[in-house]
Amino acid sequence: MILPVVKYGDPVLTKEGSEVDEFDGKLAEFVENMFETMYTERGCGLAAPQVALSKKLFVMDCRGGKDPAHRIALINPRIVETKDIQVGEEGCLSFPGIYFEVERPRIVTVSAYDIHGKEFTIEVEDLEARCVLHETDHLFGRVFIEYLSPLKKDLIKRKIKKRIKLGDWE
Ligand code: CO
Repeated sequence: MILPVVKYGDPVLTKEGSEVDEFDGKLAEFVENMFETMYTERGCGLAAPQVALSKKLFVMDCRGGKDPAHRIALINPRIVETKDIQVGEEGCLSFPGIYFEVERPRIVTVSAYDIHGKEFTIEVEDLEARCVLHETDHLFGRVFIEYLSPLKKDLIKRKIKKRIKLGDWE
């Protein structure tokens, strides 16, 4: 089932999600729906708050479904270590049409639980590292415009307000 993606302005995107504590069939089904939604919307990651569930989990696949090994659900993720720096363009399904450069670590070690409640640790780099950090931010209520200078952030917020008024933000 494809879930509606919440856009910036909805309070669910700016509050911290709670930890997942039930690893049951309902969770597995929700994760499946998140993957389906992410592939349909052509995102490389999707966090639960973006589909209005204020919980700490996200899905990602930076290969667009071409390699099952890169199709990962991370539940209650914890960033263990970061290394190096990368600068690259970022977008977000909750900010349609808005892209800008963000500086982030280039290598990330992250621990998380899978849908069965089994803990695992992976090291990812480049685009996947960017994705893990961007999506983990969502779980804590942080959106990527927070990385902009106050001036640029204001500019983007004004642009969004205008689009909301025009009905161009759904
Ligand atoms: Co996002």
